[in-house]
Order: sequence, then structure tokens, then C-alpha cells
Amino acid sequence: MFEVVKRDGLARIGKFHTRSGVLETPALLPVVNPKIFTVTPRELYDEFGFRALITNSYIIKNNADLKERALEEGLHKMLDFEGVIMTDSGTFQSHMYGEVEVTNEEMVQFQKDIGTDIGTVLDIFTEPYWTKEETAKSIEVTLERMQVACDMKGEMMINGVVQGSVYPDLREYCAEKMATMDVDVHPIGGVVPLMEQYRYLELVDVIVSSKKGLNPNRPVHLFGAGHPMILALATLLGCDLFDSASYAKFARDDRLMFIDGTFRLADMQSLDCNCPACRGHTLESLKKLTKDQRTKVIARHNLYQITSELALVKRYIREGRLWELVEMRCRAHPALLDALRRIKEHSEFLELTEPISRDGAMFYTGVESRARPLFNRYEKRVMERYVPPTDKAAIFPDSGKPYSRAWAAEFDKVRRSGYTPIVISPFGPVPADLDEIYPLAQSLFPKLTDAETENTADALTFDFIEKMGFVEVKEYDEIDNDGTMEYDADQLRARAISNYQFGIEATNALFRGKIDIVKSRKTGKIRNVISDGEHILSLRAGDGLYTLRAEGAARILASVPSPFMRVVVNDDSVPFVSEGRNAFCQFVLDMDPEIRPMEEVIVVDKNDKFLATGRALLIKKEVESFKKGIAVKVRSGNGDEA
Ligand code: GUN
Ligand code: ZN
Repeated sequence: MFEVVKRDGLARIGKFHTRSGVLETPALLPVVNPKIFTVTPRELYDEFGFRALITNSYIIKNNADLKERALEEGLHKMLDFEGVIMTDSGTFQSHMYGEVEVTNEEMVQFQKDIGTDIGTVLDIFTEPYWTKEETAKSIEVTLERMQVACDMKGEMMINGVVQGSVYPDLREYCAEKMATMDVDVHPIGGVVPLMEQYRYLELVDVIVSSKKGLNPNRPVHLFGAGHPMILALATLLGCDLFDSASYAKFARDDRLMFIDGTFRLADMQSLDCNCPACRGHTLESLKKLTKDQRTKVIARHNLYQITSELALVKRYIREGRLWELVEMRCRAHPALLDALRRIKEHSEFLELTEPISRDGAMFYTGVESRARPLFNRYEKRVMERYVPPTDKAAIFPDSGKPYSRAWAAEFDKVRRSGYTPIVISPFGPVPADLDEIYPLAQSLFPKLTDAETENTADALTFDFIEKMGFVEVKEYDEIDNDGTMEYDADQLRARAISNYQFGIEATNALFRGKIDIVKSRKTGKIRNVISDGEHILSLRAGDGLYTLRAEGAARILASVPSPFMRVVVNDDSVPFVSEGRNAFCQFVLDMDPEIRPMEEVIVVDKNDKFLATGRALLIKKEVESFKKGIAVKVRSGNGDEA
């Protein structure tokens, strides 16, 4: 069973429950060669804190001595490792050396017999140079073998390997089929050659197309990925598990892994590493060690690089800033930069799980930052949902934030002349009324703009002006006549934010009769919106977006048809949610597919009766697939509305 504890887009910190304990993800499983322990499993557990490893059942089966011991005492005892043990099946050997002389049934049975926690089907490794026909055919064989493996697995968990070479449609097809089977973990296979050849751009397509077909409630393993350099990127795209044989392989070749690449000891100019393995060493002292001793030191160094990067990836997920780490990491190599740039092609898919807001500010690290789905989302929403209060626009350059403070006097002046102030920001056009919402105010850009972002912002603003149908557009400083038009900035702002957040139809339902705005005496910011004497919305200071109140929810339910903003729960859940308890996945019957993580939602019963308001933590596809976990963090139910 896999539980998501914290998420950041597709990336997640999870708890994977196995019979050998709970494994926190993202996790990397060091590959242990059962014939030679470069670092012993005991050390991996005690010294490095690895709670899972992967070894090869095919190698064990083909060695009389190991086979006998494994069958006799079991894998855990043989390796002296009490954590989670995953085994591979011999597929990789067939990739390296050609056909293997075992059957899928034999391998699955053997893995069961030696007590592996997570076994692997004998899948067919789809090479990147294969034709589409060849690839498609072999996938059918892998799928047949997978069904057999599922039928045989018993208490053992099983890896359902997604294959499909570099063909995204075949990847997605294979993933979809695997998702319907009783599989426990989904490795994405056949990617080692891509990584060896630095084909990270294609790796992005392979991961995303596989993720599209898979079931979100199962961990995804990127088979053979263990370089610290790509952990952040692969985690961002939704991979939970990794494995590394390189830490030992590279060590035997005197190669050291670092976050910015792999370096030969002979080529290195200095040893600027403070890991516990390198501490006290210099290049010279390392070179003077015996081959065996040196391999051990370098293998440990490589493992420390991996563990420290994984810890950092987790920290960035917890802080909701994994994009930033990925953008930094992908500058280590041009091929990684290609991967980062490629992500933009998938922004529609990534937008589905992109939270409505995050804690803390977004840092722009370069033009690639514009690939983040929050840019796309803003562009789309502002184009579709903004309703200009006048038919003339005044254009302002980007300046200090929030814009309505930085340009207070100028905004007022143009408004009195009937112009709607629009700032050209790196996000594109920002109408004055939206300047405090996430991510517009909660973002930092360099003062010296790059040409690409500037051009994009200009082009977007041009499109926006057309779409809004402004009849007159002027630079703000060309408007010199002091007008006398009256306007209420708070009313305009309150409504514009609602349009942006909930859409025009819901806003028309929410805002009716007399609108009173309650502002904070300290900050002067909008706090509450009262309509017809009833409190419908509260504005959050952090992200400048609304929290929906019960009365607001009731108005939306009455006017906007289901499934808009709804999460429907079954009868068992009704009394709990009404009391303000969270709505759990297993009780959800239906949900608006447009809901995004952290979005305001209305929890209703099967008759569309109001139960509670809250914020969604998961999207529909996730809620449907998870058997455990919170779907909606409920704020207050109908039973206890204050
Ligand atoms: N190890 C690395 N890649 C693969 C793969 O595609 N399948 C299996 N079973 N093991 C692997
Ligand atoms: Zn080191």
C-alpha cells in the first residue's frame, strides 16, 4: 500500500508499506551484487540508512552456492539485511548479454521461494533503437508475462515494468494495461541506454507518457536511474523509486559521482568533498590506497552523494519548491537543460497536479522557469475569466510589488480617466485588481529581464488587449487629463479575484445585492466579502485568494450545476464531514475533474446537499485510485459553521 504524505505537483513524499517495513519515498535502492559486496548490506542499512536494496535473482539462481543458501535461509538472512528487498529478474542480463535461458514462471517462482519482498516479471527490455512494430510486439509478450506473474505472486509484491522504448503512445498503452493488473510497483524500464547516452530529453517524454497511463496509487520506479544529477528531475516528473549500480561500478573504475557529473580520479584537480568517506583524504592519499581500499572509499563517497541529494529533494518537496531545485540541477549539463526545456511540452499534463498556490514565493531562475505550469494556468485564466470594468486600457511597466502600492497614484489617475490599469509582468498582462494573488505577488524575478520573457510578456499582453476588446490602449504616461470618473477599487478587486478564482458564472452567483467589504485595519487589505448581509468569502493574506464560506458555497450550489467545484461523498461519510472532519478518498463518489490541488471545494452528499467547504489535496484521478488518505481538508461543516 502506498500513501502520499506530501506532494509538490507530480512529486511526492510517500509511505510504501511492505512486509519488511514502511519505506519512505522518494528512495533509492542500492544495487547489491550478491557475489561481491562493495559495501555490505549491513553497512548500507546501519551507516547510510538505506531501508531498501535491490539485488538480482537471476545471478543468485545461476550460482549453485548462492541459490542453495538463498533457498535455505532466505534472502534477508543471506544478505543480512532487514529492510525491504527488491529483486530483478534477469531482464537486464538479456539486455547486456542477449537471451537468458529461464522462463518468466521460473523466475517469479524463484523470487517467491527466496523470500524477496518485491519481485520482478521477466519483462522484455525495449531498446531505444527498436522499430515501433518490434516494440509493440514485445510489449504484448511482457503484458502476458505480467498477467502470469500477478496470478502467481501470492504474498510477494510484484514489479510491473512499463516498456515501450522511445514511443510515447506505446509507453502510455503499456502503462494503462499494467495499471489494470494487480501490480504493486511500476518500474519504467528500458531507460538505461537513454541515460548512458545522455538522452535526457527523450527520458522526459518516456517518464511523462508512462505516468499518464499509470495509476497514481502505486509507486513508480525509474529502473537503473541512480545518478544524483537526475534525481530531482525524475522526482519532479513523478518517480518515487530509483536504483543505483553505478555507485559501485563507477568506484571500481575510479570514478566519483557528484551532483554536477561524474569525474575520473585521474582527471580531478582537487578533492573538494566533505562527505564522511572523503573526509581526511586528498587526491594523493586516495591514489595511494590499494585498489580495493580505494574502491570502497569511492563507492561510499558515491553513496553519500546520492543520500545527500535525496535528502535535499525531499526538503524541496516539503517546501513546495522542487521546481527550483530542478532548474538549478539541470544547468549541470546541456543534455539536462534539454530535458528541462522539454518539460514545457508537457505542461498541460503537469498543470493537472500543479497546486493552486504554494507557501512561499516563486523564484524565477531563467527562461526555463516559464515552463512551469503556473504560468500557463495564469495565462489561460486571465484570458478567459477577466472582465474589464472599462473599455480603455492603460499600460504600465513592471515595477515594485504589489503593483497597486508601487503605482498607487498613477493607477488612481488613469482610473479617474476611465482606463483600466494593466501591468506587463513576466507572467503577461496583470490587471491592477489581480496584483496580489498567487503567484503574481508571491514571485521574484531578476530586475534585468531576458529578451525571451520580455517578448512573451509583450505578446501575451497584446493578445489580452485584443481578447478584452479594449477600444483604446495607451501607455500610462500618455494619459495626462485628470478625469473625474468614480470607481471603488475594493469592489473591483473583490470581484476580479472571484472571477479569476471561481470563474464568471460562480462569481455572478456569489456577488448579489449589496456588497460590503471588510478590510484589515492593519494592512488595509480585503478580509471578508459580505453580500446581501451574508459573509460569503474571506480573503487569505498569504496567497491573496479566497476561502469559501458556507453561504458562498450554498449560492454556488444553487446556481452552478454539478459537478462544478463539488466533491461528492457517500452516506457513511456524511455525519463526519458535516462535523468538520476531513473527507477521505475511499468515501468520495464523484468529483469535478477541473479541481486542482489546494483548490477551494464544496463537499456535498449524493443529492448535492451542502456538507462542508474545504480545500482539495488531490485531483479526481488520484482520489479514485487511492484507497487511503485525505481527499479534502475540510474547514468547517454545515453542523459547525461559525
Ligand atoms: N534494470 C534496468 N532496466 C531494466 C528493465 O527495463 N527491466 C528490468 N527487469 N530490469 C531493469
Ligand atoms: Zn566524498
